[in-house]
Amino acid sequence: MSRFPVAEFKDLGTPFYFYDLSLLDRTLAEIKRTARDEQFHVHYAIKANANPGILRRIQAAGLGVDAVSGGEIKAALDAGFRDNQIVYAGVGKTDDEIRFALRNGISCFNVESEPELEIIDEIAGAMQCVANIALRINPNIDAHTHEYITTGLAENKFGINFDQLSDIIEKASTLEHINLIGLHFHIGSQITETEPFIMLCDTINRLQDEWEAKGVTFASINVGGGLGIDYADPDRHPIPDFEGYFKTFRNHLRLRQGQQLHFELGRSVVAQCGSLITRVLYVKNGSTKRFAVVDAGMTDLIRPALYNAHHCIQNISSPNGEMHHYDVVGPICESSDCFGKDELLPALRRGDFLALRSAGAYGEIMASQYNCRALPSSYFFEK
Ligand code: LLP
Repeated sequence: MSRFPVAEFKDLGTPFYFYDLSLLDRTLAEIKRTARDEQFHVHYAIKANANPGILRRIQAAGLGVDAVSGGEIKAALDAGFRDNQIVYAGVGKTDDEIRFALRNGISCFNVESEPELEIIDEIAGAMQCVANIALRINPNIDAHTHEYITTGLAENKFGINFDQLSDIIEKASTLEHINLIGLHFHIGSQITETEPFIMLCDTINRLQDEWEAKGVTFASINVGGGLGIDYADPDRHPIPDFEGYFKTFRNHLRLRQGQQLHFELGRSVVAQCGSLITRVLYVKNGSTKRFAVVDAGMTDLIRPALYNAHHCIQNISSPNGEMHHYDVVGPICESSDCFGKDELLPALRRGDFLALRSAGAYGEIMASQYNCRALPSSYFFEK
């Protein structure tokens, strides 16, 4: 807990996101070390956190970007990522976004449907260029994660189902302004088991064999993101098991000669370096419960309200007090604005700082202004 320079927080307005850049750098170094294979390319899923201070570090470490909107492509370019390091996914790309991506020469569109393929061809034709595309396939794999963040099952809106693949590959070969270079997959997020990734590799192997037999090969395979992190005890695993993750693909995926393998990691890159820092406003004794009302709410960190997620909560002002149970709640007019029930914490007083840990991914970027609140600010720390 010594990581937090609490004395420096006294004059700062709360809530704010605290980013430990040294931990981010160590995480990036570990990614570089473990994804060392020449064919491996790691794209940072910018949706997890697009704070410019974070993006610059990730760019400097040499990662590419996975973007899902024109805005994300722009944020990546502004942070110094090169056009050929950017892949562009998304189930609902607008015509303007497609034009913007083509104008900026991004390396690949991950295409999610036949009508989208036709529109990209049409727009590329009008712009007299050719779009590199990968087909996003829905591999129908259960990633054993929260229903809202499972994306690889047949019944959700993402990707192209196996039974439609033949038609769409054939279609792509007839379109003049489309260059089919690869296949793209993503099975979900916060995946903490190896099994779903092995199943993905097996699926890709089968698919490649099948298409190879028909004379169709792909220059690149993109396996998406999804590597989970330790929300329960962030200090036990400040850096996710990248070695194990990349090894799974190294051992189970049969890459073809010269084939490139792309990853799109978001959460595992940035989650542990970020904490939301909030002040205790009131300690309120109910008839059966004690509430700690804090100045951060679901507008600053929506994951608990939206996914029932739990972020480890720490009293960083007075960590050695007597332990009590508290419901830690925010100021928003919604019952779901609650960060934790019956949290066992060292005695809280008005003005204490709490850290909501593992909030670097899908935290600041998902903040809203509901209740006319200001967006949280950010604070960068480097040891
Ligand atoms: N690639 C694609 C196509 C994706 O849809 C996603 C995440 C990623 C990569 C990055 O996945 P990651 O490595 O971060 O698991 N807001 C939710 C998470 C939504 C994830 C959406 N897609 C949360 O707070 O848990």
